[in-house]
Formats: sequence, structure tokens, C-alpha cells
Amino acid sequence: MSTAANKPATIHLSDYQPPAFLISDVQLTVELGEENTLITSLLEFKRNAVDARQVRLHGENLALKNLSVNGIPVPPTEYTLSTTELCFLAPDDDFTVQIVTEIKPQENTALEGLYKSSGNFCTQCEAEGFRKITYFLDRPDVMATFTTTIIGDPDKYPFMLSNGNLDGQGLLHDGRQFYRWVDPHPKPAYLFALVAGDLACVEDEFVTMSDRRIKLQIFVEKGNENKCAHAMTSLKKSMKWDEEKYGREYDLDIFMIVAVGDFNMGAMENKGLNVFNSKYVLASTETATDADYDGIESVIAHEYFHNWTGNRITCRDWFQLTLKEGLTVFRDQQFSADMNSAAVKRIEDVQRLRAAQYPEDAGPLAHPIQPQSYVEINNFYTATVYEKGAEVIRMIHTMVGEDRFRKGMDLYFDRHDGQAVTTEEFVKAIEDGADIDLTQFRRWYLQAGTPEISVSDMYDGDSKTYHLTITQKNGKAEDLSDPLHIPVRMGLLGQNGADLLETETGDGSVLLDLTEKTQKFTFENIAEKPVPSLFRGFSAPIKLSKNPSDDAIDLLFKKDSDLFNRWEAGQRLATKILVDLTDTFGTDKSANNLPEYYLEAFAELMNDHDLDPAFRAAAMTLPGESYIGQQMQVVDVDAIHHSRKSSAKAIGLRFEKELQEIYDRNLGQKDYGRRKLKNTALSYLAATGKEDYISLSANQYKTATTMTDRVAALAKLVETDHSAREEALEDFYSRWEKDQLVIDKWFTLQAVSSRDKAMKDVERLLSHSAFTLLNPNRVRSLVGAFAAGNAVHFHAKSGKGYQFLSDQILALNKTNPQIAARLVSPLGQWRRYDADRQQLMKTELSRILEEENLSNHVYEMASKSLDN
Ligand code: PHE
Ligand code: ZN
Repeated sequence: MSTAANKPATIHLSDYQPPAFLISDVQLTVELGEENTLITSLLEFKRNAVDARQVRLHGENLALKNLSVNGIPVPPTEYTLSTTELCFLAPDDDFTVQIVTEIKPQENTALEGLYKSSGNFCTQCEAEGFRKITYFLDRPDVMATFTTTIIGDPDKYPFMLSNGNLDGQGLLHDGRQFYRWVDPHPKPAYLFALVAGDLACVEDEFVTMSDRRIKLQIFVEKGNENKCAHAMTSLKKSMKWDEEKYGREYDLDIFMIVAVGDFNMGAMENKGLNVFNSKYVLASTETATDADYDGIESVIAHEYFHNWTGNRITCRDWFQLTLKEGLTVFRDQQFSADMNSAAVKRIEDVQRLRAAQYPEDAGPLAHPIQPQSYVEINNFYTATVYEKGAEVIRMIHTMVGEDRFRKGMDLYFDRHDGQAVTTEEFVKAIEDGADIDLTQFRRWYLQAGTPEISVSDMYDGDSKTYHLTITQKNGKAEDLSDPLHIPVRMGLLGQNGADLLETETGDGSVLLDLTEKTQKFTFENIAEKPVPSLFRGFSAPIKLSKNPSDDAIDLLFKKDSDLFNRWEAGQRLATKILVDLTDTFGTDKSANNLPEYYLEAFAELMNDHDLDPAFRAAAMTLPGESYIGQQMQVVDVDAIHHSRKSSAKAIGLRFEKELQEIYDRNLGQKDYGRRKLKNTALSYLAATGKEDYISLSANQYKTATTMTDRVAALAKLVETDHSAREEALEDFYSRWEKDQLVIDKWFTLQAVSSRDKAMKDVERLLSHSAFTLLNPNRVRSLVGAFAAGNAVHFHAKSGKGYQFLSDQILALNKTNPQIAARLVSPLGQWRRYDADRQQLMKTELSRILEEENLSNHVYEMASKSLDN
């Protein structure tokens, strides 16, 4: 804990030193109790730096009960203990240490280390949670084999789980039971896990490519057994996919997943024992939306894929976090693209990148995917490290192609299996294995900011040549101006929309290597003046700053053979119209007349039955408010809201009949894409404000057989002040009162409503009996959703939205600093708003910084938000 006067230390990558000692083996005994939990650990030490004398172990909030070295108790005069360390002298090159500590998991509200969730014990050790269980060299480059014995009450905790394979279980003389687990794979302490509780177990099996039978178990709270099928199927698909795509086989006899209700993040890849936020495990059609199903599939895959990219090969230090996260996100994205519509998946991934990562990269908390310093590592589990990190891997994949990428990955696994490595070692392995020079490309690891790309072109009809000039500029002015190596996948469209380039791949696309600040590319034998389709498939995480003409975008929207770029063109067209419209907000010109060419293209798309319905739904959806805001000098939340809302209304009125047809034709369909299309139509119909469509929504709400349909309808009602609103909200609450994940949706729908009373609603919900700051999902569902998803009310001119957020941050600072810190970033965006709002936001940040017992987590986020 720190105050502004007592600033916490900054940790720098440049200070990295290999560990002075290593630990090769850990024998852990955990005696679970209601008052105290006792941890006895027996550690095999080895000196690693010749001159090292002092052993310095990490430890926080621990009661030390005993310390013995080589079996001899060390008296308190011969060790030193601080709030973060235990230090003593090493007797030799090799020695054993026994440590006994006592902790109180039942009082742990930060959900890091060993804690309780719904009466069950569970752990979260990444990044630095193991030091809250026992004293240890809690750093990822110290890798040890673990034997874990768990002891406790067999009635309260019939299941006792840890990493590895089960090595024994039974009853002790005193009536307690024990389970012993052996994990033969050396791992850092952050991958340690322990779970104990009275859980239900759903079991299945996977036969690996070398015919080994793996037991698969999913543990959930009793009563949820019937909500595990999708997670189990996703797990088996992931295991198969990793074998086929990357040749990676699972390496223990058992793979376990535990779903817990209280979890700071999405899930955790602990070796052989993944612990999940229940949101990413539990699903039934009545309780989970299609988007929830997709989330489960991708998070299950993500954690499973970590077994090779993260666990077998881990990070040398936490500055290398993107080594495992960027790579594993890329792998889970590839997997989901293979399982579902690849184009729609790509669109969703890019939307997420733009919504979460672009603002981060343009704001005070911008950092390269490999940061150079941090105060609190938990603050660096960011969209940049994860999502931009995945884009960086994807660019390499795009440049070398499928087969060579696989060769690079094979070499990476061969060379580094069992090691803790750096991103540099990864890049080198890919370079060697895939045979590509990544010298300049490496800059992506070191430069923050979203590159801005502008293009100009010229067609010479006499020589039939086309010249394309591309310029790059780093989005963060103070950064080195070194140009990046940017892969530009592109095609040229003729006036009829057909691809003009004949390419080997047959998709009309070529790959350009943009390596200079300004670079000219020439295309020969181009029969007519083309329209360029740039960055197909979003081949690089950049911003295209200069718009081609409306006609050109219009052609891309209607005809581009690359579906991603077709969608992108539609978004660009709409964004331009919506941004222009913000100018007329508040004037008598604000009546909405969408340009005819846009409406025409929209109609064409809407009625194109050859297109995947999920794609049509995505392309019919207007860009979100935050994305529109990103295109403006000063974000005008009210004008943006009005412009988007009135445009949706204009579309709804203009195409009322067609939209109704789409609605009717797709009603009751099982197909996910058709459901999406139908609910997109409903959104436009509801936007007309006509009573008929309130009834339609109310009716869909009542008759829905899936949560997707129910939530879609309820969302429309929640936007209104109609009596159907309260009726549906009450019904929803009483129907799902016992299902926490569904109740989260109930909070969120109200938190993001744009209706006038929304701020009051949110304040009222804060004191609702079902609201608690102790559950991260609940906090996200109300406070997080409001700050990130309700621009109009969060940025209310009164400043009430800001105050509300900082009040919650300060309250959470006391119980769960990680969650508190994650809520700070919306305030950090203050530079993007008008002077009054800037002042109000800064006032709140200062107020947070005045708090006496501010955690390092919140301190780092708030101080950087204010100063940088
Ligand atoms: N390593 C986890 C993942 O990305 C995320 C996580 C980080 C979970 C820190 C908990 C704590 O899969
Ligand atoms: Zn991960």
C-alpha cells in the first residue's frame, strides 16, 4: 500500500537478473481449516549465481510458523522478515528448506493466492499470488516439480484437486482425508493450483493422437452439471485441433476444469487444473446467449492451448507476458475461425481490438506489447499485451504463410520446451524455422501507438500501370519515428467490382511489405482504373487515416471479394455519415436524411441471400458510439448518441417492410446467424419508436426459448419508459433470481440503457440486495458496464457519472485492488473530451490519489492517467 508521498517502486526490464538460487522440487502439504490453513513446504534449493549467499524469498500476508534449513530450525535471529520478504543465509550449494506458514483464505477478498468462493477453496497464483500462500522464489524463471498433498474435512471438501496426476488418496487417523498430486512437469509457481470443495463432477474422455486416454473432468457447483456440455465439447475440439494444427499432444493423464463464481479474470491455465470464471463454463440455451457460447468455446480453447504456449514454454519474466498471451490469443482466434465463420470471427476480433486496445494505445497508459517497466504487473494484463500481441503474431503468420509458420512453431517447441524464455527467443525461433528476416519487424515489440497509414494513387491509362504510395506514421508522437515492417494484403477491384490481380493463391490478393516511411508500389498490366482494397483481412493493426472517395468505398462495400473488407467499407461509409451528422446535432437540421447511396447499398446487403446471415447482421450494424468517438477531435457523446440513434431510426422507417420480413423469416430458427439477423432487424424496428415494435419486443421477450432472444428483446424494452419495461425486468429477475450469471445480464442491461433515468437506476441498483462489490462479475455487470458502455450517462455534464465511478474504485481499493484498478481507465481518457469534462475527470483522478491507503494497483493507474 502506498500514498502519493510514499511512491511504490517501478520495476524495469533492464534490471533483470537471473535468479541467484533455483528451486528444483517442491513438496507441499496444505491443511485446510475453517480458521487457519497451514502450509508446509519442503524445497530443494540449488545455488545459481556463484557468489550468492543470501536467500531472499517472496512472501506477503503470511504468518511464519517455522523455518528449517537442512532439517535444522533457524532461530529468528538468523533470518529477517519484512512485509514482502524472508531472508536467510544459504549453507551450501545445495540445501533443503522447510517452511511452515499459516493463512486465512476465508478472509481473502482480493481473490489472489488461496481464497474461498461459495464455500470452496481455490487458488489464483498468476502473476504473484503464490507468495500469499508460502514463501517462495515467486518468479516465472524458477521452475520446479510439485508434489501437493491436501488434507481436510472429507464432508466439507470431498474433492481435493491440484496439478498433475493423482498419486494417492485416503483417510488419516484423525478422520481427515488426503489427496496427493504429482506434477512431473517443472513449472513456475504461478501455474500452481489447488481446489477443494463439495462439487459436482462431469466426466468424459479424450484419446490422443498417440492413443493415450485422458480423463477429462469439469467441476461445478452442484445443480450445474447440466450446463457443462458445451464446455466439454469445446475442450475436446481444442485438444483435437491443437494436435492437427500444431502437432501438440496433451501430456498428463487427466485434465480438470473448475468453475468458480468469484474470479478476477476470465480463466487461468494452471497445469492440468484450469480454474475458470463460471461465466466461461456454464451454458444452456435458456441461460446463455449465443455470444456466451462463443466466449466459452474460445476461453476453453485459450486456456487449453496455454498448456504448450505458456506452460511447457513459459515466460522468463513478466515483461515477456505477450510471449504466452499474444501467441495464445492468436491460436484461440485461429481455432474459433476454424470452428465457425472465419470472416465473422475476424470482424469480431477487430471490433474488440478497436474498442479496447486502440483507446489504450492512444491514451496515457499506452505501452508496447513488451513493456519496459511497471509498478504492478497485474495492471499489464491489457488489451495491448493480449489483443495487439495476437495481431503481431498474426502479421508474422500472414507474411510467412501457413506452412512456414508451422515450421517456425515446431522449431520454437523443439528448441525451448521446458524453458522460461523471452519474446526475442520466440522471434528468433520463428525466424530460423520459417526462414524470414524479422530484424525490422521486431520494432512492433518495442513501439507503442497505433500506426497511421495514408495512401495516394495514380493510374496511367496509356502504360496501364497503377501506382500506389503508402505512408506510415506512428500514432504516438514522442515515439521513435523508426518505420515499422507492415504487411499490406491487398487487391485491386475493377469498376464492376471483380478482382483485377491474378495471383497464385487465386484470391486476387497480393502481399506488400511496407518497410519505409513512404513507399511506392507499381502494378503493371492493369486494364482499367482500379479501386484498391487495402489491408484485406485486416492484415495489420493500423488506422487508415485518409478515406478514399465515397464511390470507391461504396464499390468495396458492395463487391469486395474479401468479406472483412466488405464489412470494413460499410463501416467506413457509415462512420463518415455519422460523424458528419454530429455537426448538425442541436440545430434544426438534425432531422435525419441518410444519403441515398448508403441506403441503397444497405438494401442490397440486407437482401443478399447468398451471404452468410451472421455476416449480413454484422454488416448491417452501425459502428458503435465509442468507435465513432475515436474518429472525432473532441468526443461529443450526446451528438454521437443522437446521430447513431436517429440513423437507426431512419433505417428502420425506410426499410420497415423488409426488416419485418427478415424478422418473420428468421423467427424461431435454430441457426445462430439467422437469430442474429433477426435480432438486428428487431433493433432497427424498435428504433422507429413505434408502439407496434414495443409490443413485438415484449412478445419476443415472453415467448423466447433462448436467452439470446430473451435478452435481445429485453434490451429494446429497457431503452424505453414504457410500462412493458418494468414488467419484463421484474419477470426476468424473478425467473432467474438463483442464477448469478443471468442476474449479471439483468444488471448490465439497466446499466447501459440510455434512457434519462439511467443514472438513477444505476445508483438504485448499487443498493439492490443482489449487488455486492465482493463479486467481480457483479461489479463488472453494473459498474464496469456503466463506465464502459453508457457514454451518455457516464459522461453526463453534471460529473455524477465520474463521481459514481471513483466512489466505487475507492471502495474496491480496500477489498479487491485488481478489480479497482481495472475500473480506472475510463477516467484516463479525459484528454478526448471537452474542457469541462476534462476538469471533472481530472478532479476524480486527484480525489482517488488523495486516498490514504491506496493500493499500488490503483496508484499506478490513477497517477499515470493524470500525468502521462
Ligand atoms: N493467464 C490468464 C489467461 O490469459 C489470465 C489471468 C491472469 C488470470 C491473471 C488470472 C490472473 O488465460
Ligand atoms: Zn492467456
